[in-house]
Amino acid sequence: MYSNKVMDHFNNPRNMGEIEKADGVGTVGNAKCGDIMRIYLVIEDNVIKDVKFKTFGCGAAVATSSIATELIKGKTVDEALNVTNKAVMEALDGLPTAKIHCSLLAEEAIKAAIEDYKNKKGVE
Ligand code: FES
Repeated sequence: MYSNKVMDHFNNPRNMGEIEKADGVGTVGNAKCGDIMRIYLVIEDNVIKDVKFKTFGCGAAVATSSIATELIKGKTVDEALNVTNKAVMEALDGLPTAKIHCSLLAEEAIKAAIEDYKNKKGVE
């Protein structure tokens, strides 16, 4: 049902944790399943220097958060905004149809964290 990559990121999540003085924090939830994902970003010169996540949710949500942090680390803010849930799913070699919504949480959490960063810094 799950790809080896999903199982790997579920069993060994990358960048799990919190960043106390994050430049941007984004929290999103899925109303149906009640799962919650939070992403913390450290941004310097418009580049994502560090990222951590906390996910209170299903295994697919943990795996998508984990791979999403890897996808955006080292990217510019604009590049990170272009990371879609499709890209997240592709990086995981796919997700079962019933779990596609879990990958949306990752995309939304990244966008929410960047929006928080922009609001804090007063950037457009
Ligand atoms: Fe809710 Fe996966 S079942 S995020």
